[in-house]
Amino acid sequence: NTKRRLSPANIEALKGERPIVSLTAYTTPIARLLDPHVDFLLVGDSLGMVLYGLDTTVGVTLDMMIAHGQAVMRGAERACVVVDLPFGSYQESKEQAFRSAARVLKETGCSAVKLEGGAEMAETVDFLVSRGIPVLGHVGLMPQLVNTTGGYRSVGRNDKEVAKIRRDAQAIDDAGAFAIVIEGTVEPVAREITAMLRSPTIGIGASPACDGQILVSDDMLGLFNDFKPRFVKHFAELAPAISKAVEDYANEVKARTFPGIEHTFQVKR
Ligand code: KIV
Ligand code: NA
Repeated sequence: NTKRRLSPANIEALKGERPIVSLTAYTTPIARLLDPHVDFLLVGDSLGMVLYGLDTTVGVTLDMMIAHGQAVMRGAERACVVVDLPFGSYQESKEQAFRSAARVLKETGCSAVKLEGGAEMAETVDFLVSRGIPVLGHVGLMPQLVNTTGGYRSVGRNDKEVAKIRRDAQAIDDAGAFAIVIEGTVEPVAREITAMLRSPTIGIGASPACDGQILVSDDMLGLFNDFKPRFVKHFAELAPAISKAVEDYANEVKARTFPGIEHTFQVKR
């Protein structure tokens, strides 16, 4: 195979060229389907809620992220693959962050990690980047902080919040992140940050002016419908399609119309 995989540097260089396209992926078959269409795939810790039925991302472990990172790497050949560092695997110290991120890169073969945090994580981001680990930043609404910030409320609603997000984004940019996810901010905060930063911004519930966009695939496919935030658009409705298929299967089994003779192995005599 001669196709080259996009690198974090390639993603960074897209700022000002064209919008960056990104989605989450957790499994090999979904990664295979998304790979031709996206610049990078994020193995997000949202998998805790989307795949495992957890209430928040706080319970997700590094081992879970590595297992799903390996699965996505088996399905993606062109897209840059980024794996989320889960809660508790990087906040303690920059050394802990390096140890966790190095495990992710060595055991999955992915190109970069993402971590949540602003000014307080800038030293850690610089520590990783200067030692060979590309970092995708994540500021604004930070789901791993649910237990201190109280939930999934969009931010940037007053001058104090706006000043904090700007400071956070600038600090992560200065620390050398190749791109920065901005989640759940009110206009025009992400628009202004996008104009201010060297590295590209990737919006989710942020602003159409961001340098790129990301969504949780299961959300945009209409597969995970526990709740639908304002920023999600359903590009398909897979949940009702699955329900209908399973109902049809159940009915055919009960009516003995499935399996038919064409689904049955025959011995040639
Ligand atoms: O975990 C995740 O899916 C994410 C994206 C929504 C940015 O962090
Ligand atoms: Na995440």
